[in-house]
Amino acid sequence: MKHIFIKGMSSRTFVLLHGTGGNEHDLLEIGKFLDPNANLLGIRGNVVENGMPRFFKRLGMGVFDIENLKEETNNLIDFIEKAIVDYHLNRDELIILGYSNGANIMASMLYNDKFNYSKLIMLHPMRPFKELEMPNRNTRIFIGYGRTDRMISPTEALGLIKLINNAKIPLQVFESPGGHEITINELNAVKAYI
Ligand code: MLT
Repeated sequence: MKHIFIKGMSSRTFVLLHGTGGNEHDLLEIGKFLDPNANLLGIRGNVVENGMPRFFKRLGMGVFDIENLKEETNNLIDFIEKAIVDYHLNRDELIILGYSNGANIMASMLYNDKFNYSKLIMLHPMRPFKELEMPNRNTRIFIGYGRTDRMISPTEALGLIKLINNAKIPLQVFESPGGHEITINELNAVKAYI
């Protein structure tokens, strides 16, 4: 997959997954803000919708192409696994951070049996498979969402939170009064969490 890797001074790595219309550079500043010493791996989604990169196809706003989502989830996991080897990354210190479309493919990764990552930061996510029960995974998750998000209904994040709680995966939630945008308070909460 198209990506950028910036070597840091520590053994921590952020894997950064952009939102619709973004690219591999989008979240680098957030990674640097969270830990200026970390390695940064920004990845660009394989799909293009009207010129906008995404991690998987959709049929309409918030309506996912489930077959493509599953296929691209596999591709993304295979890519991250290859990057761990190629860039000599420490799996235990890998943090995957995604925003919006990038967070949605992370939620899908949790359903994939190859999933083997210890920390996920999902900013403004949705439920990829609606009510489908999530398997228990040995990971920790942070979710940030906006109470007045007009792009993705907060009921999506709340539904995902319920599935994660049912799967008994340790979860920390940050609710902001705002909408779909990432806020500084949210990033400070992520910084305290990691
Ligand atoms: C999606 O398609 O993943 C969601 O609608 C979020 C977004 O707009 O990217």
